[in-house]
Amino acid sequence: MDAKQIRADFIKFFQDKDHRFIRSSPVVPVDDPTLLFTNAGMNQFKPIFMGTNKPEYSRAVNTQKCIRVSGKHNDLEEVGVDTFHHTFFEMLGNWSFGDYYKAEAIQWAWELFTDVWGLDKNRLWATVYHEDDEAFDLWPKVTGIDPARVLKCDKKDNFWEMGETGPCGPCSEIHYYIGDDPSKQTADGVNVSDQYWELWNLVFIQNNRLEDGSLEELPEKHVDTGAGLERIVTVLQGKTSNYESDLFSTIISKTEELTGKSYIDNAAPFQVIADHIRMLSFSIADGALPSNDGRGYVLRRIDRKSGSAG
Ligand code: ALA
Repeated sequence: MDAKQIRADFIKFFQDKDHRFIRSSPVVPVDDPTLLFTNAGMNQFKPIFMGTNKPEYSRAVNTQKCIRVSGKHNDLEEVGVDTFHHTFFEMLGNWSFGDYYKAEAIQWAWELFTDVWGLDKNRLWATVYHEDDEAFDLWPKVTGIDPARVLKCDKKDNFWEMGETGPCGPCSEIHYYIGDDPSKQTADGVNVSDQYWELWNLVFIQNNRLEDGSLEELPEKHVDTGAGLERIVTVLQGKTSNYESDLFSTIISKTEELTGKSYIDNAAPFQVIADHIRMLSFSIADGALPSNDGRGYVLRRIDRKSGSAG
């Protein structure tokens, strides 16, 4: 199954459940001074969560171009070190704006992963915010997952926030064991070992973080999910590195052709180049240019880093 098909499957799955397809917003945020780059699918829906914009639809699905190189979400240092974090990636997501909530979000994520895509239930783990007993109880009830595979985690991993301020809430993540030997799985590895990949984050947006650090309740409860296309494609294609999936293979082989070097012998620099080229291409296409300050300076640094990687 190629990446295009997997992306299309996700969108169709939620369209069949009455979600409206909304195009990706640009990676340069429109009208949000709190962000240098779009860092999540929910960014463009922030005014809806805040109650300042009422959409004509209550469910949405999209695939969002995201960049995580600054602020609260920054994966720059992981690139070239592991095989599954990127400065630029595509986030698949489904949303409920004051419509369905935890039960449906959990049930549908599980249905897509296990029934539609056939992921092995014995490699999947779910995490919930430690104070969220409702989600903890819902997981086995609506999915049939082995309760031993549902873990309570603290704020660091299971309370999602887009930035220093803005909509946020407890979340529930789905992790997948990519290791060779499923009998070696342990609950302790989740959120710790590189053998467990977070594939999907289901956020139950119910709060707004204010500038003084306090939380206020939002007028309605919403669902905001984010699933990493690159990781899902890799897992479904039976690989253990995103760079071996069809989303990266063209860039990797072109780099081999241009440099006369092999990927196998030069994995880290090839990965940095492949990652950074995608980030720079999408930024420039969306109107950001390298410069001496702010967003442009980030681009200049990334450009230099990829230039020195080889
Ligand atoms: N907004 C959530 C995230 O980015 C889904 O993980």
